[in-house]
Amino acid sequence: MRRLAVSILLPLGLLCQQGGPKAEKLAPYYPTPESIVEKMLQLGGLQAGEKMFDLGSGDGRIVIMAARKFKADSTGVELDEDLYKQSSARIAKLGLSSTARIVHGDILRQDYSPANLLTVYLLPSTNEKVKPILEKQLKKGTRIVAHDFEVAGWTPEKIENIDDDGEGRSHTLYLYRR
Ligand SMILES: C[S@@+](CC[C@H](N)C(=O)[O-])C[C@H]1O[C@@H](n2cnc3c(N)ncnc32)[C@H](O)[C@@H]1O
Repeated sequence: MRRLAVSILLPLGLLCQQGGPKAEKLAPYYPTPESIVEKMLQLGGLQAGEKMFDLGSGDGRIVIMAARKFKADSTGVELDEDLYKQSSARIAKLGLSSTARIVHGDILRQDYSPANLLTVYLLPSTNEKVKPILEKQLKKGTRIVAHDFEVAGWTPEKIENIDDDGEGRSHTLYLYRR
């Protein structure tokens, strides 16, 4: 019996491992200052009850502000296990679990079709990888707010420059609409 289970389960496990390319870390962790998070969500016109996604959600600050302050239904996607656990724990502690969540996974393998708003703070090369997925999945009218790095080839509807975030750093936000 044991031999039968091993002979069935072992190849099955190998198959699962070979089921697709391994997720790749596509950007370093570098959090958006809280003051800029609010500006991103305001620029994106986030309304209560709307669905928003943060691609590469770090410590979950955008997802948390979207649910807490803007009363949206928010989802973060984060590859790093520690950040995933830390942000999920904070969401639970704040009592936001019914409207906010973090998916532990790869931003290149998610379904963003229900989104009204997406936020991205990723490298230009990462935006390039995400772009065809969004072009395929997003419904007409979905807004995308990109922090500091444009999505090459898309024309922003609005660009907002912030000269000083309170700590002497400048930021640029790009609003796109599909
Ligand atoms: C610049 S940080 C932005 C964090 C957060 N969105 C913010 O603005 O505060 C980029 C995040 O993307 C995550 N990341 C990198 N590659 C990823 C991938 N393939 N799938 C999911 N998350 C990824 C990193 O771990 C990091 O937390």
